[in-house]
Amino acid sequence: FLPPMYLKKDFLLSLIREATRVGKTSLIMSLVSEEFPEEVPPRAEEITIPADVTPERVPTHIVDYSGNGCAIHMAYAILWHCLSCKQYKTCYILASSNDISLLPLILVGNKSDLVEYSSMETILPIMNQYTEIETCVECSAKNLKNISELFYYAQKAVLHPTGPLYCPEEKE
Ligand code: GTP
Ligand code: MG
Repeated sequence: FLPPMYLKKDFLLSLIREATRVGKTSLIMSLVSEEFPEEVPPRAEEITIPADVTPERVPTHIVDYSGNGCAIHMAYAILWHCLSCKQYKTCYILASSNDISLLPLILVGNKSDLVEYSSMETILPIMNQYTEIETCVECSAKNLKNISELFYYAQKAVLHPTGPLYCPEEKE
């Protein structure tokens, strides 16, 4: 499942490139409107969630991303991944760094309404192999399961990363 010969960075980049139709836009719209959008545009509008309604009390800017290619230069601060119906795919970037390998990651298993079992047992070994992965969460934009939790974990991963702050390759 996780080819060991993969460089971490390449692995992460490959996840992002494949992250189509996993529910990025639906997750954002479900968070904002508290209901599942039946019609979903390719990208949600940029939005800033004010500090006073976020658990960590920091304003959170959410930038959606759609299509092929990598938007690693994007403006903000979290990267999350989506495990969508057993397919291991990337969800979304909100990144403050140009270097993906320095970003904290969250693995997101969206569309949990479509399956009757949990994928956590599959995910946990992956999480343990990658110090970049802060946490994983199963959610559903459709039945609103774990949506606010997901954004909370994303905030937390950026504000209080548990991964190494020192990057051996960059020596900084
Ligand atoms: P791109 O922008 O095209 O890469 O897609 P995306 O990742 O933004 O996914 P989008 O939100 O457009 O959702 C893709 C499809 O999955 C749509 O038909 C959604 O209705 C559906 N979908 C999204 N989230 C869920 C979910 O939690 N459960 C189910 N059953 N369907 C979902
Ligand atoms: Mg989209």
